[in-house]
Amino acid sequence: MRLSDCHSFHDFRRMAKRRLPGPIFNYIDGGADDEVTYRRNTASFEACDLVPNVLRGVTDVDMSVTVMGQRLAMPVYCSPTALQRLFHHQGERAVAAAAGKFGTMFGVSSLGTVSLEEARRISSGPQVYQFYFHKDRGLNREMMARAKQAGIEVMMLTVDSITGGNRERDKRTGFAIPFRLTLGGMAQFAMKPAWGINYVTHERFRLPQLENHIAMDGGALSISRYFTEMLDPGMTWDDVAEMVRDWGGQFCLKGVMSVEDAKRAVAIGCTGIVLSNHGGRQLDGSRSAFDQLAEIVDAVGDRIDVIMDGGVQRGTHVLKALALGAKAVGLGRYYLFPLAAAGQPGVERALELMRIEIERDMKLMGCTKIDQLTRDSLRFTRG
Ligand code: LAC
Repeated sequence: MRLSDCHSFHDFRRMAKRRLPGPIFNYIDGGADDEVTYRRNTASFEACDLVPNVLRGVTDVDMSVTVMGQRLAMPVYCSPTALQRLFHHQGERAVAAAAGKFGTMFGVSSLGTVSLEEARRISSGPQVYQFYFHKDRGLNREMMARAKQAGIEVMMLTVDSITGGNRERDKRTGFAIPFRLTLGGMAQFAMKPAWGINYVTHERFRLPQLENHIAMDGGALSISRYFTEMLDPGMTWDDVAEMVRDWGGQFCLKGVMSVEDAKRAVAIGCTGIVLSNHGGRQLDGSRSAFDQLAEIVDAVGDRIDVIMDGGVQRGTHVLKALALGAKAVGLGRYYLFPLAAAGQPGVERALELMRIEIERDMKLMGCTKIDQLTRDSLRFTRG
C-alpha cells in the first residue's frame, strides 16, 4: 500500500496498521472501556444532515477562520497528541512542518517527543502547548515559563485526564514507555521489522518537556501511571484561575463538556474551550463533543471561543461543527495515522485531502465563507 493509495481517513488507518507494531497501533486506535464514546464521536456527525443551498456563485471559497486570536487558513488544526516519534521517527517535526505549510495551528504535548522550542522553530503556524497540571508545582511553573520564552501562542490545559482512562487494549498489549510488553506484544513488534529498524536507527526516544523531572530509564512509565501518579487530581478552578493570570495570554481548557463548566471558564478569564472527550479515551459513556456543541455555544459562544474535537474524519464533519457554532475543529487520529503511515508527506497529504474536501463541500453547500454556515444548514435525524 502506497501513500498515493490513501484517499480517506480509513485508507491512512489501514496503511498505519500495516506498518505499526500492534501495541502502538492499538494505543492510537483505542479508547476507554467498551469504546462506546469513541464510536459515538463519529456516529454523532452521521445523525445530523446538511441542507445545501444552490445557485450562490461559489467560484472563490474562503475557508479561513480566526480562533483565540490566531488566523488559520483552514478551519481545522492538529490537536496536541503524545509520543509522536513512537509512531514515526519524524514525529512532532513532521506535524509542525505540515501545519505550517497549510497555514494552520498545531499542538505540542507535555508528553511530546520533540521539544516545544524546536517545534516552534520548525513551524510558521501558531503553536499550542498542551499542558498537564502536575503535583510538582515547580514543574508546572517551569513548563509555563519555558512555553512563554519559546513564544507559544496558545496555552491549552487538558482538564479531562485527572486520572488515567481504562485503556484495555493497552493493558492487553502491555503498552508502556520505554517498552515493557507482554509476550504477545513482543511478537507483534517482531512482525514489523521495518518499524523496529527505523526506531533503533534514529535518535533516542525522549520526553523533552518532562525530562528534568521524571526518570525515563528506570521503570517503564505507562500513560495510566503518568496520569495517576504525576498529575494532581486535587486541581481546582482556583488553581486554573491562577494559571490563567500567570500566563496572561490566550488560554483554553481542553475537555470542558458541561454548560456549567463553560461558564466557569469564562468567569476565570479563559479565551477558549475545547469540547472534547479525549478521543473517547477517558470517560467511556460520556457525550460526544458534537452533540454537546449547540447548548454550550448558546450559553457562552458570545464570550469565549468554542472549539471541538473528536471523531472528525471528513470535511462534512467539520462543516457541521462550524454550522453549530464551533470556531475551529481539532484533528487527532486523522493526522496521526498518516504520520505513522508515511511521516511528513503523510500528514501533508491528509491535510491537503481535508482542505480539498472542505472546499468542495462548501461549494456544494452554496457557501463561500465559513460564517455562511448556520444552523439553518442542519437537520438532526435523531437525538
Ligand atoms: C492519551 C494521552 C496521553 O490519550 O493524551 O494517550
